[in-house]
Amino acid sequence: MYENYYGLTSKPFQLTPDPSFFFASKWHKRAMSYLQYGLSQAEGFIVITGDIGTGKTTIANSLLNNIEDDIVAAQIVTPKLSPDELVKMVASKFEVDTLNKTKADILKDLEKYLFDLHGLGKRALLIVDEAQNLPLETIEELRMLSNFQQQGKPLLQSFLLGQEELQPILRAPNMEQFRQRIVASCHLAPLTAPECREYIEYRLKQAGLQNENLFVDGAFDKIYQFTNGVPRRINTLMDRILLYGFLEELTVLDESSVDTVTAEVSDEMFRPEEGTGETPLPAAGQPQPESKSQAPQISGGAEIMSELTPDGRVKDVQYYKTMLNELTDALDNAISHKIKLTRYIDNLLKKKYKTYVRLKSDD
Ligand SMILES: Nc1ncnc2c1ncn2[C@@H]1O[C@H](COP(=O)(O)OP(=O)(O)O)[C@@H](O)[C@H]1O
Ligand SMILES: [Mg+2]
Repeated sequence: MYENYYGLTSKPFQLTPDPSFFFASKWHKRAMSYLQYGLSQAEGFIVITGDIGTGKTTIANSLLNNIEDDIVAAQIVTPKLSPDELVKMVASKFEVDTLNKTKADILKDLEKYLFDLHGLGKRALLIVDEAQNLPLETIEELRMLSNFQQQGKPLLQSFLLGQEELQPILRAPNMEQFRQRIVASCHLAPLTAPECREYIEYRLKQAGLQNENLFVDGAFDKIYQFTNGVPRRINTLMDRILLYGFLEELTVLDESSVDTVTAEVSDEMFRPEEGTGETPLPAAGQPQPESKSQAPQISGGAEIMSELTPDGRVKDVQYYKTMLNELTDALDNAISHKIKLTRYIDNLLKKKYKTYVRLKSDD
């Protein structure tokens, strides 16, 4: 909408993770190195945790984008899968037929698939996103899957990405065997203040911005204060600031522009339990999962998040839920943009009308 106004060639703060906008902050670089190290080891589990919106999925997508040809990767955004459902889902992600098969048969076929892959000089990688939703016994099943081996090397390697609730799950006393298989783990912290600025400038540049003085220094500080350096929040806020600048026909965006927009969006942007931007997020390397309001969702009984399709495949219900939520957010955003545009056009018309009346009375 505002791209032309600022001379941009694309949308700079889209929420869909886009590898071409990947910004390598200190923690993102570190997490990426862990994943690459894990790939080079070709065994064990790599665990990346981080608060919502810190960039876990973006990192996984970036990695998948640069993955070597000899790795066949599958990604699952996990609903609360039972161990059996997990096996089914993993098998179907690797295109192993699961229709009317017992778990034992599926496991046999999956093992054969992995052996055949190995025979072709390839190997399999499983990326489990939102892994904090997995019950303990399902994580244990994941460990069992890593038991398929050929000459001592596992045939399936897994990366687990999840919110902080994943940490206490992995720390549980009966997870010792799983823990022994973790070759590296990393916690993704939000961006620091200087990184937050670099991130914004990087994305604007990637989107074709030529004007280096669009934002004054103080505006970046305000943006950091409001977003705590969480990329998803930065994107949402930046989108609104750019829209505001366009509607108000500003050529420089300063502290007061940011203040106006943050006042406007603070109600709609963050849910109350996430705080208003004043609560500092846990520092890097010091996860505080126990103090979080959301308890790990370990056992079932609540919502049934997974379902089997008629052909026996497990639907990514959580995935579709997330997609729908994002769609709802996008529609909400679009409506609020439309309202603002209408107001803007209304103002323009009023101004024009006043000029017309003035010119008429001058006549
Ligand atoms: N390193 C990064 N470089 C560029 N954009 C990022 C980065 N990290 C996060 N983002 C952006 O922030 C938003 C949220 O990131 P996402 O990967 O979905 O977070 P998470 O999976 O941790 O909830 C996405 O729109 C993504 O484009
Ligand atoms: Mg994610």
